[in-house]
Amino acid sequence: MKTSIALIGFMGTGKTAVGKVLAARLGKEFIELDAAIEQKSGKTIPEIFQQDGEISFREIEIEVAKEAVASKNTVIACGGGIVLNTINVDRLRRECVIICLTASPGVILRRTSGDSSERPLLAVADRTAQIKELLRFRRPFYERAADIIINTSRLKTDSVVELIIERLKEHAGYRQ
Ligand code: S3P
Repeated sequence: MKTSIALIGFMGTGKTAVGKVLAARLGKEFIELDAAIEQKSGKTIPEIFQQDGEISFREIEIEVAKEAVASKNTVIACGGGIVLNTINVDRLRRECVIICLTASPGVILRRTSGDSSERPLLAVADRTAQIKELLRFRRPFYERAADIIINTSRLKTDSVVELIIERLKEHAGYRQ
């Protein structure tokens, strides 16, 4: 039986905000992979991208995800690109119910505007085009990895959390 939950999905779909509240509601440890990557490398995510490149970032992400799934009874908020490496999805799937949060490109644009300095992949001139292009490429990866998919476009954090708790009750293989 699985006791951990992994939140996946594009940037701005609410993984961190939802993950914190969900972990508190379920009495589980909250792990944010981006924060763990920053802690492990001693650099911010933009610094890693700038100084070492995206490939280095993805290597640290693989290590940190591996460490995170070793703990039971956790809620893990993953970075938006976690699904790009199959090894991450395989490891998450062994230990976690995988919940994919989605949102429309417009909502993603709104939620991520103002913090482009924190998200190197969105630090581009045409963010709308970039979001649409990344979403188009990644959508099949998210859909293939997910056990449960929740559209957060019109929902507040608390409603997403309630919905997840409901859906988990129906999910065979999960134990609270
Ligand atoms: C990324 C998403 C970010 C962070 C990094 C790369 C991505 O996490 O891991 O900037 O490839 O989508 P959030 O989804 O938490 O913003």
